Amino acid sequence: MNTRVKFSLFAMLTVFTLVLSACNNNDDENFSSKKIDTGLSVDEISNEAFKEKFPLHYESYMKNNDDTTETKYGGSVPTSKFHENKEPYLPILFNNFGFAQEYNEERGHTYANIDIKKIARITEKSPGACLTCKSTAVPKLIETMGVKYYSANFLKEVLPKAEEMGHSPVGCSDCHNPKTMELRITREPFVKAMKEVGVDVSKASKNDMRSYVCAQCHVEYYFKSDTKEVTFPWDKGFKQQDMYDYYEEQRKNGKFVKDFDHSISGAPILKAQHPEFENSQQGIHAKNGVSCSDCHMPYKRVDGKKMSSHNTFSPLLNENTIEDACRTCHSDQNVKEIKDHVYEIQDTHMEGLHFAQDVSVKAHYYVNKMITSKVPEDRIKEAQEAVRKGQWFWDIVAAENSAGFHNPQGGMNSLRISTNESNKAIQLATVELVKKGVDINELNDEIRKVMKAVADEKDLKKKHTKAINSYFPKVVQEVQPAQPAK
Ligand code: HEC
Ligand code: HEC
Ligand code: HEC
Ligand code: HEC
Repeated sequence: MNTRVKFSLFAMLTVFTLVLSACNNNDDENFSSKKIDTGLSVDEISNEAFKEKFPLHYESYMKNNDDTTETKYGGSVPTSKFHENKEPYLPILFNNFGFAQEYNEERGHTYANIDIKKIARITEKSPGACLTCKSTAVPKLIETMGVKYYSANFLKEVLPKAEEMGHSPVGCSDCHNPKTMELRITREPFVKAMKEVGVDVSKASKNDMRSYVCAQCHVEYYFKSDTKEVTFPWDKGFKQQDMYDYYEEQRKNGKFVKDFDHSISGAPILKAQHPEFENSQQGIHAKNGVSCSDCHMPYKRVDGKKMSSHNTFSPLLNENTIEDACRTCHSDQNVKEIKDHVYEIQDTHMEGLHFAQDVSVKAHYYVNKMITSKVPEDRIKEAQEAVRKGQWFWDIVAAENSAGFHNPQGGMNSLRISTNESNKAIQLATVELVKKGVDINELNDEIRKVMKAVADEKDLKKKHTKAINSYFPKVVQEVQPAQPAK
């Protein structure tokens, strides 16, 4: 850590301690210095119940409703990931899976229960497990229903129960004990997975808790094949390769094989989900003890009182957010310099990401051609393996929401592995296709055409239908589940 950063940290802590010791109303309470009793039940799950006691926190939390500001790669405006300037070939890459029909950028916590009801990936068959990271009712539902909560029907049973209980989206009780307001962990899958990597979260430091509360949800997960229990694939570590090795082991043991068979290449594909925690653990900030809350819930002053922002926004939203989230430590850079630096990291990252995705698209179509040209089965299998691996290593990076910022080097490394694997599939295919007399120039032309057809289709929900045509027919017939069901 450089001396300036160290000094600012010291200065920040000193000022913070002084401010906190000077005030004693609820909004300003510091839990490590004094125990409080809110008078609320420890089972309270409604955000509104906290409004009177903590008006400033409630108001700050409600600012998550603002979904009008965009940053270059993030922000809160509801946007499809299929747009031209995002990841336009996802309807090809997830073909035969719900994520090819609708896949959106995330927005504020207050929308969690609204957005899950609207998304096309939720169907009549979706399991209760889908609610796990959205609603404050989840811990209580698990307490009453046991492990059956996860596999119970989402639309018919679990959601109506949660609504009846008066649930809130991602709320106070998810991160705080409602009675004492101490930070707490409410999601068992996180506790279990941390135990597997040797961490007892009940003994976590306050600083670790400032990340752990987020890591209950902002992580890669899968639904166990039998019980649909939400499970985190961490027992080999947090790196992209560690999680891939975990899934390969599950597959060998016959426990869990894939999320879906790809309709173009027939490869058994894994779908990755938002691994903000795992990814940032490898980055320079986590290694220096900087928590998620330092950047996404920074201390700020409201009506002369110091408090943690509860508007969990992108730190790049505006000058004030960069000031609060970054300049506390990076006081040697001005707001513009900080923003430019982040965008420089993100631009490089997104260029690498788009490159890896393009190679992955090409690999799927090359394998399609192997299948329709009837090359030997074992060669197809080998190429499908490389396609599966190539896709995992870009997806686990693309599904992460910081566009590379949380861990620039880890992200680029994953994209390097991805490109390498997809290229391996293309090479394998080329050797076999040439033997069969396939015109490789024609194949490449057809790939360009089909990619253009997907990009040009204006109806977002129809894009995936343009990924298949008479030259590249569907090679998998079964209908696949619409929700992640690893
Ligand atoms: C050093 C500061 C820092 C830390 C620590 C940090 N983040 Fe971020 N985070 C950022 C920045 C900068 C972005 C990029 C925002 C953008 O592109 O608009 C970001 C993006 C995100 C996004 C997407 C936001 C959007 O608007 O698209 C999420 C979600 C997120 N971070 C969650 C987390 C979680 C969870 C942790 C802890 C495990 C964490 N972050 C740790 C700075 C940080
Ligand atoms: C109970 C699950 C849960 C917890 C705990 C949680 N999040 Fe989230 N977070 C979500 C979900 C779900 C969304 C997306 C909501 C939507 O798009 O409807 C989200 C969205 C976000 C976003 C995007 C906001 C935007 O405007 O685009 C950020 C940033 C974020 N979370 C950061 C954090 C941080 C930091 C923590 C810990 C202090 C945290 N989250 C804890 C579930 C959670
Ligand atoms: C996503 C997790 C999360 C949610 C949701 C959340 N908080 Fe917090 N809250 C935190 C974190 C992290 C801190 C900082 C704690 C610390 O460092 O001791 C905090 C701090 C506080 C504090 C202490 C003073 C301060 O500002 O640091 C109060 C009071 C508080 N929250 C109230 C609320 C209320 C009321 C709600 C619901 C409207 C809520 N919180 C929702 C994570 C959350
Ligand atoms: C609590 C302190 C703290 C906060 C808050 C913080 N940083 Fe940092 N940041 C650090 C430390 C420590 C390093 C490592 C510096 C070193 O080793 O010299 C670092 C390094 C960096 C680097 C260089 C790393 C790289 O990969 O090139 C960038 C860029 C950066 N921070 C941007 C940000 C941004 C943007 C924010 C706000 C969203 C932010 N930081 C918030 C402490 C912080």
